[in-house]
Amino acid sequence: MGSIRHVVSMKTFSRKEIDGILDLGDSLEAAAWGEKESHLLAGKVLATLFYEPSTRTRLSFESAMLRLGGQVISVADAKRTSSVWKGETLADTIRTIANYSDVIVLRHPQNGAAALAAEVSSVPILNGGDGANEHPTQALLDLLTIRRERGRIDGLTVALVGDHKHSRVTNSLAFALANYDVKLILVNPPSLAVSRETVEYVQGKGLSVEETSDLGGPMKRADVVYIFRIQKERFASPEEYEKVKGAYRIDRTMVDAGGRDITIMHPMPHVDELSPDVDTYPGACYFRQSFNGVLLRMALLAWVLDKVELD
Ligand code: NCD
Repeated sequence: MGSIRHVVSMKTFSRKEIDGILDLGDSLEAAAWGEKESHLLAGKVLATLFYEPSTRTRLSFESAMLRLGGQVISVADAKRTSSVWKGETLADTIRTIANYSDVIVLRHPQNGAAALAAEVSSVPILNGGDGANEHPTQALLDLLTIRRERGRIDGLTVALVGDHKHSRVTNSLAFALANYDVKLILVNPPSLAVSRETVEYVQGKGLSVEETSDLGGPMKRADVVYIFRIQKERFASPEEYEKVKGAYRIDRTMVDAGGRDITIMHPMPHVDELSPDVDTYPGACYFRQSFNGVLLRMALLAWVLDKVELD
């Protein structure tokens, strides 16, 4: 058996690989809308194993697999409905599901769970989010979104706003952006800063990083403003959450005040950090962003199952 292509961390991707995957995602649009029938992954089975809630990640992976002619088996609530409830370890669960499928998407509350799964799995593991650590397939669909919205990634100023301490998307996206000529602005309350490891890693790769708690300046300068949910469920106590709840909120007046085209992104779900009046702003692309998840995940499934060569 050749080596298995797991997707655990954005750190392992080269720019050439990323660009190849994004190109492939773009090329699959007709199949993603169901306008063109694809049998690329016929006979293949995807297993989705989720220990945390999800709408977009799980369903866009499942849609991606079905759109490419493959099939899907799914555990949407592993803690309650699988043998995890009886005390089975993650390693044993993965070993078992690898016997039933050709590729596994795993979401788990523990940092490092995807790496552990990859160690014991005989099929590719795609990390659908491991604790506050990484969410690489989200970062890739975010790059695809930036490229589709702005026509390029190089040369842009990207502001990430919100809870960077608990957000796995921030880590993966920073690692991904470090492959491009981008200015990164991290906007967060002082208590919700991204880890020093992440900052040092991306600076070491040449990425320019500015950190601030003020959203006003970045709203005037950034091409892309990407806002995150404060990750309530990852706080040590409800009191800690209350201190930073509602720290940032973007509304239409703030977006229009910039007087230029801003791309507004969100991984979703959003709660109070985005006012609904932003939805009709032409640069508000979070619903297009979630569609791009299907394109990107089709590309990733085809790639890890060795059905395509990247350019
Ligand atoms: C994100 C996640 O689960 O990390 N959601 C997603 O995958 N689109 C972000 C979040 O839950 O806030």
